[in-house]
Amino acid sequence: MAQFTFPKDFLWGTASAAYQVEGNNKNSDWWLWENRDKKKDKFLLFKKFKSKWPLECSNNACDFYNKYEEDFDLSLQCNNNAIRLGLEWSRIEPDENNFNQGEIEHYKKVLNSARKNGLKTFVTLHHFTNPIWFAKKGGWVNPKSAGYFAKYSQKCAIELGDLIDVYLTINEPQVYSGVAYLNGRWPPQRNNPLEALIVQINFMRAHLKAYDAIKKVINSPVGIVQNLVCWEVDPTSKFFFDKLIVKLLLFLNTDFFIKPIIKKLDLIGVNYYFTNRIKNLKPKNPNDITSDLGWWLYPKGLENILINIKKYKLPIYITEHGLADSRDKNRSWYINESMWSMAHALEKGVDLKGYFHWALTDNYEWAEGFWPRFGLVEIDYKDNLKRTPRGSFYEYANICKNNTITR
Ligand code: BGC
Repeated sequence: MAQFTFPKDFLWGTASAAYQVEGNNKNSDWWLWENRDKKKDKFLLFKKFKSKWPLECSNNACDFYNKYEEDFDLSLQCNNNAIRLGLEWSRIEPDENNFNQGEIEHYKKVLNSARKNGLKTFVTLHHFTNPIWFAKKGGWVNPKSAGYFAKYSQKCAIELGDLIDVYLTINEPQVYSGVAYLNGRWPPQRNNPLEALIVQINFMRAHLKAYDAIKKVINSPVGIVQNLVCWEVDPTSKFFFDKLIVKLLLFLNTDFFIKPIIKKLDLIGVNYYFTNRIKNLKPKNPNDITSDLGWWLYPKGLENILINIKKYKLPIYITEHGLADSRDKNRSWYINESMWSMAHALEKGVDLKGYFHWALTDNYEWAEGFWPRFGLVEIDYKDNLKRTPRGSFYEYANICKNNTITR
């Protein structure tokens, strides 16, 4: 039997985003978009703007806004010692320069409660959603966006201070710029490569400014969360250009974004969901095991990306990793195998400090609505959002308790 024990102070947790769990974020650009009159879309001139997305509105989501204590209790039952959660900018700053003290007090209560349950708090300041006023000013293509974001970040640091153990400025800037500005599925539904690039650059600027703004107030660690894809050449490929394209994609996903901000990063947050193999310049995954969303499940990819970013010499946290699996068929296997990938990366000298599973509970999966089930805990949306742990919850709880994996 093989066994691996994680470092003594390793952090075990789950992750969520404010908008996906809280419910009723009515001052957010997503809310406005979800609740638009879709019938009016048919009068739009260009077909590409007639969107069926999102499949559902977020409404009460998981009502984490009111049920956070119940969820922290679940974290405790899961033997977690940390949690990643998000703040909703549009609650804290519903109008420009007008901060809502009531909502700030709410987040203080939430964070205090997490602390009381022995959870270290990793807090995301921006996770795909924006206040409506910010979106109306042009959102992330506006050159002033970085300044607006830094101001809000500083306010969070002033008000929430050391209730936040680790500040995570922006979640998956490249996913957001790609889906909102390139393929047009998310608001503001743009299809413009130049804008997508500008958005990425503004996110870099926003991180740099927010880092300084937070550090003026408090010396807590500040990082960013990047979705890292394991790009690989298909083993049967004989085409030279496949190697080149894989190199380019890896570069765009890592050095291109990380190098310009590396001096202002105390850690890197990694979200791992995808390995993509390329053959004859086209994606070619074996898809032997897939999630309910059709995503290929390849645990070894996690080890590869971790080793690939070791060169930055920064502490690394896996800030998201999981799968949509309504029948809980592959979740335990996937978690366990991915833990072995983490173990191998640690043995090879990667400074990996913690793991946050996505997600504790089922939640609102953006444009897809509620059908993809990412939770260790099932939510019954028809019965008062009742929470019921799935089998994998107990498997994960065991790993967290023993800090050890076996196979
Ligand atoms: C995002 C989450 C999302 C998850 C699963 C990540 O890209 O940060 O908000 O729910 O993937 O799709």
